[in-house]
Amino acid sequence: MKLVGIVGSSAEVSYNRTLLKYIKKQFKSMFDLEILEIKEVPMFNQSDDQTNSEVIQNIHRKILESDGVIIATPEHNHTIPAGLKSLLEWLSFKIHSLEDKPVMIVGASYYDQGSSRAQLHLRQILDAPGVNAMVMPGNEFLLGKVKEAFDENEDLKDQRTIDFLESTLEKFIKFVKLVSVIEEPKETVAKPEDLYATGKVDTTIEGVDMAADDWVEQAAKAVNAVEGNTYVKLDRGILTVDQLNYFLASMPMELTYADHNNQFLYYNYTKEADEMLASRTPGQAGNPLANCHPESKFNSVSWVIQQLRSGATDAVRVHVPTHGPDKYVVHNYQAMHDKEGNYKGINEYILDFKPIIDWYLKQTGQKLVGDVDAVSGASQNDSHGGVDAVSSASVKG
Ligand SMILES: Cc1cc2nc3c(=O)[nH]c(=O)nc-3n(C[C@H](O)[C@H](O)[C@H](O)COP(=O)(O)O)c2cc1C
Repeated sequence: MKLVGIVGSSAEVSYNRTLLKYIKKQFKSMFDLEILEIKEVPMFNQSDDQTNSEVIQNIHRKILESDGVIIATPEHNHTIPAGLKSLLEWLSFKIHSLEDKPVMIVGASYYDQGSSRAQLHLRQILDAPGVNAMVMPGNEFLLGKVKEAFDENEDLKDQRTIDFLESTLEKFIKFVKLVSVIEEPKETVAKPEDLYATGKVDTTIEGVDMAADDWVEQAAKAVNAVEGNTYVKLDRGILTVDQLNYFLASMPMELTYADHNNQFLYYNYTKEADEMLASRTPGQAGNPLANCHPESKFNSVSWVIQQLRSGATDAVRVHVPTHGPDKYVVHNYQAMHDKEGNYKGINEYILDFKPIIDWYLKQTGQKLVGDVDAVSGASQNDSHGGVDAVSSASVKG
């Protein structure tokens, strides 16, 4: 089970952070807890929308990907700190990250009442229609007199407190499971995918026929694309276009780039189509994804893109068993994002894992035991067909 813990304090030294770190460490056999900070969250301001900032999008994505959330709130003047309130405002303004998400509240503070008033307020806030979280009823964990609660290893000292914390977490896990049964599976994306790429994104090269065999040459001319020994400045390095090509061509996998407008822009062309694990031809570059697949596969292709575009997952993997027992070919669809966390398309890499697995077994002196069903892909749970979501209608068999 994957949980997210939100530290409700911006302080450099925070007892609520210590509490979450303790929960992560002490109860690691019960769940994975990823701790998120609110220090960088900007003050909420409706007139200066920062929903798409990296910090908000990152928290949003982590919450969506989690099974449940634990919020550790301090108490400031009988309520929750402004920083935590700001975060909840961002998460209920243009996006609704906590909607129907199981949430447990914990809190640590100096005094006997240990954040009880802040916890009550937090419950009300999480219940507001814009937030609409599924807050676990009861099950309060209040850690008062916090200055004396932890030892020098940042472990809770009192065994009864530890036992009580454990019992509340056990109840929360049951609650998370219950909510997942009650909840209807959500449609991941409201809008259907436009596989014909009729829209336009900021990088779309206009005025060139996407289906043209020489789209690359025409599009390069239209935008004065650099080539050859011209230098390109990258995030952390400078390469010539030639060097970039050498680099990408030497990747031990077939790489394909389809943008967020569902246009197939690039593949690392090193082999002829019939030698590839998934055939591509030079003329395919520039085509909308609809031109790269038979109509019967459109639903599967859309499903993969929607998973990635919506943030439901960052990677979809499909084992394609039709290459025989000497290969273990996997099509990996990896979402690409810009620095602000906006979806920017799919990086598809197709890789035969067999040589890697063989190398690993040899290096470590291990052997595979039992039957490996390399032909029928018995262990894969892809219900959407072995489709190449980016650029090839037929998976090579
Ligand atoms: C402005 C301010 C107001 C506070 N008000 C309360 C309060 O109402 N109740 C309380 O129990 N502690 C209060 N405290 C003390 C907090 O419990 C204490 O600072 C605690 O360490 C905050 O949690 P943190 O360490 O995770 O930041 C207050 C602290 C500050 C700075």
